[in-house]
Amino acid sequence: MRPNKSKIVRKYFNSIALKYDLMNTLLSFGIHYLWKQKTIKEGKLKKGSLVIDLCGGTADLSISAGKIIGHKGKVVLYDFSLKMIESGIDKVKKNDLSDRITPVCGNAEIISFPDNTFDTALIGFGLRNLSDIEKGLNDIHRVLKPGSSLICLEFSQPASPWFRRFYDFYSSNILPFAGKIITGSEEAYTYLHDSIRDFPLPDELSEIMRQSGFKKVTYKRLTNGIAVIHIATK
Ligand SMILES: C[S@@+](CC[C@H](N)C(=O)[O-])C[C@H]1O[C@@H](n2cnc3c(N)ncnc32)[C@H](O)[C@@H]1O
Repeated sequence: MRPNKSKIVRKYFNSIALKYDLMNTLLSFGIHYLWKQKTIKEGKLKKGSLVIDLCGGTADLSISAGKIIGHKGKVVLYDFSLKMIESGIDKVKKNDLSDRITPVCGNAEIISFPDNTFDTALIGFGLRNLSDIEKGLNDIHRVLKPGSSLICLEFSQPASPWFRRFYDFYSSNILPFAGKIITGSEEAYTYLHDSIRDFPLPDELSEIMRQSGFKKVTYKRLTNGIAVIHIATK
């Protein structure tokens, strides 16, 4: 799947964009909002900061960040799916944050910003979707200012074996079925399960981040490890 992964992933997200938030809320029982709040907290964002929300999609992290950084700060909502960004822009307008959140359509593996630009990089449920994780991390490292942090929220595998078995059944059977009924795309949610299964476990991902030049790499498991926040410094 790797050579055409970007094209396929963009197609999936364009096709589910209008139902993406609803699906997230139903299938995680609303827990994704708590995970996102924790992610933002780990970012320790300051007023006036310049933040990039990579694979920002429908803008949940951008909006939370936008509220913290104040009117002198800026968030770049960066995603390669125009439909996801359009849904995000609607939410940004409703939250009256258009003055500080700028949408940019682009590929997170070749970020269209100069070196040493951002105070913080956020990436929520995005890294797993890249065709080449190392390439993406190298480019995220490039656009961060020295001393700045990457905060990465991503799905992973539950830590306890019994929960892992339950979760595997849920994500390989119930998720695609619900995806088909609600979004019309069973494929996108089969892909979700496969991409989580194939994604590096937290220690392995930490090592990949170190190899991309990040230091002080730590992680926190959320909800028995269904999701993990990695924090890494340039
Ligand atoms: C699962 S959604 C996450 C959206 C949002 N960050 C959230 O937490 O709800 C993944 C997003 O990553 C975007 N994406 C995937 N690969 C990308 C890439 N190579 N460059 C830019 N965006 C990408 C998709 O278009 C999609 O909007």
